[in-house]
Amino acid sequence: MMIPFKNIFKRQIKTKLLSATDPSDSGVFTAAEILKREGLVAIPTETVYGLAANALSALAVAKIFKAKGRPQDNPLIVHISSLKMLYPLVLEVPEGAKPLMERFWPGPLTLIFRSSGLIPKEISAGLKTIAIRMPAHPIARAVIEVSGLPLAAPSANLSGGPSPTTAAHCMADLNGRIDAVLDGGPCDIGVESTVLDLTGEYPVVLRPGGITVEEIRSLLPETRLSPAVSGQLPAEQAAPSPGMKYKHYAPKTRMILLEGSSPAYTDYVNRNARPGVMALCLSEDVPRLAVPFIAYGREGDPGEQARSLFEKLRELDEAGAELAYVRSPRRDGLSLAVYNRLLRACAFDTIRLEESPEAK
Ligand code: TXA
Ligand code: MG
Repeated sequence: MMIPFKNIFKRQIKTKLLSATDPSDSGVFTAAEILKREGLVAIPTETVYGLAANALSALAVAKIFKAKGRPQDNPLIVHISSLKMLYPLVLEVPEGAKPLMERFWPGPLTLIFRSSGLIPKEISAGLKTIAIRMPAHPIARAVIEVSGLPLAAPSANLSGGPSPTTAAHCMADLNGRIDAVLDGGPCDIGVESTVLDLTGEYPVVLRPGGITVEEIRSLLPETRLSPAVSGQLPAEQAAPSPGMKYKHYAPKTRMILLEGSSPAYTDYVNRNARPGVMALCLSEDVPRLAVPFIAYGREGDPGEQARSLFEKLRELDEAGAELAYVRSPRRDGLSLAVYNRLLRACAFDTIRLEESPEAK
């Protein structure tokens, strides 16, 4: 009996590895061509690599969800390179948005607006709002400009796993699933953009990220923090930012977040040492640790923590750890974004070792 070909060969896309160090490099133009033909390209941004597709095409957007294995109820951010691209996408630009856009765009700030309805409904998962960001990375901007398209781009990783901060991370996750990866070097910031909702009575930070809450409050003092930032929403409560309700950013290694001082942390970890246990710690903890460790930055250097976090989560898996005890960072400045990612990577499994003033 004849076996149909499609049953023998699983269709796999051949993923091209492109590169660009300058906006005029050919990789930018090849990437733009692929995007115009409704393909998928992982592109560098200053935060993390994004899996880009034409935001005006329902077909291209559907491919993003499929390639990442992303739940349909988690909406995507649309990336633009100029204000000219913003206006057709939104119903209105609220007053509060203007100073933020002036100060932080281009940059790692995503703003939620009321949608004009121009983008396919799949992008916003049926919400009446749209998330928009103008990235600062020169290669990301060049790809948007050359393609002439607003680009939907979630982080370019398999859904649920650590976000990618290098082209190699994108390849590790998405080789065979997308058309190309555009290598523009490692990402400067290392955690995603801050997501700020401007459609309600008060501005609300839905996800802390590259622009700190303190920076936003310096312009909009009434800005609030969604309870989802530092906690788990009750199951029955609809998530204001659906991406924040999942276990997320997680390596295969099980992780537990330990909140407390460096001595309390190292004592706890050393007392619970056994084969397969590792510490995902801050550099200050290293001298007192008696278990294998990976340090994700210095306590006083949130920039370093953010830049290395996702790479270190991937290294835990490579090291073959079964369980990692994670030292919690502070909850202010850029460290709040690191804390927020770790909390989800640990699936909200935390142990409070002691009362520490900054944990309040
Ligand atoms: O830095 C970043 O933002 C990166 C780079 C590639 O730009 N992108 C990124 O996308 O992190 P993603 O899909 O991994 O995260 C998008 C977040 C999710 O938490 C999602 O729920 C939220 O933005 N979001 C998107 N549209 C929304 C909307 N209309 N209302 C509320 N939250 C929204
Ligand atoms: Mg993501």
